[in-house]
Amino acid sequence: MTQPNLSLAERATQVLNTANGAEKAALSRRHAADWMASRSGTHAAIEIGTATPPMHPARPEHPELLSPRDVPKRKPGTPEGRIALLHAVAHIELNAVDLHWDIIARFSHVPMPMGFFDDWVKAADEESKHFNLICDCLDSLGSHYGALPAHSGMWRAAEDTAQDLMGRLAVVPMVLEARGLDVTPGMIEVFRRAKLPQIVDAMNIIYAEEVSHVTYGSKWFHFLCGRENVDPKEVFHELVRRYFHSTLRPPFNEEKRADAGIPPDFYWPLTEDPIDPTPR
Ligand SMILES: [Fe+2]
Ligand SMILES: [Fe+2]
Repeated sequence: MTQPNLSLAERATQVLNTANGAEKAALSRRHAADWMASRSGTHAAIEIGTATPPMHPARPEHPELLSPRDVPKRKPGTPEGRIALLHAVAHIELNAVDLHWDIIARFSHVPMPMGFFDDWVKAADEESKHFNLICDCLDSLGSHYGALPAHSGMWRAAEDTAQDLMGRLAVVPMVLEARGLDVTPGMIEVFRRAKLPQIVDAMNIIYAEEVSHVTYGSKWFHFLCGRENVDPKEVFHELVRRYFHSTLRPPFNEEKRADAGIPPDFYWPLTEDPIDPTPR
């Protein structure tokens, strides 16, 4: 066990303050294993504790971070396009590692059941595994994380919701990670067509595990709504409009969103052209 006296919030902050991607993922996995061992009783208990997480997580020198409109677009049907797509996914996964540890560190003062922390530690562990998997895929195509520029705006949702746990749950797992469920089947298809089975397998693992991250978001969002006796759908709409600076874009993966506990009347009214999700 690494540094057994550190609280969970301090461990989360350590991950946030680690700049190198591989080191961040490795530390994240060690802290997650320690937490799970502590919860199963095979090791001394780790306290939730409190910490002061940085407003921005430490980042490696590369990739260069550019505003989304300056990130060059490449056709996914070409080898360069496939590398660019994987590179963008690696960047998303690394941000996701930080996002899940950030919710733990940033909101550790909010009294929540232990299951809340278990869920986000597990999600952070899985994101770390996803980052490593995608780095291996990049490697297999002769590239690496840091070889291309990446999107600079990915931490905005975390900053905007740094004071609002319900807002964080609404925007990060229930909007951004749910969006991942919408777009991943198309990405898997790109690599299936290119006959790259190792990459297809990696993406399928990610796709399956991401459903549970959206589920955790919906579960704890509904928990807090119940505790405050407010209507979840109305509060969700209000928080997404306040903190998410865009409308939601169909097509939606209605099946996986339903698996994750997000019904159509949560997301359709937030599209540019809201239509009633009438049953077919
Ligand atoms: Fe992931
Ligand atoms: Fe995720």
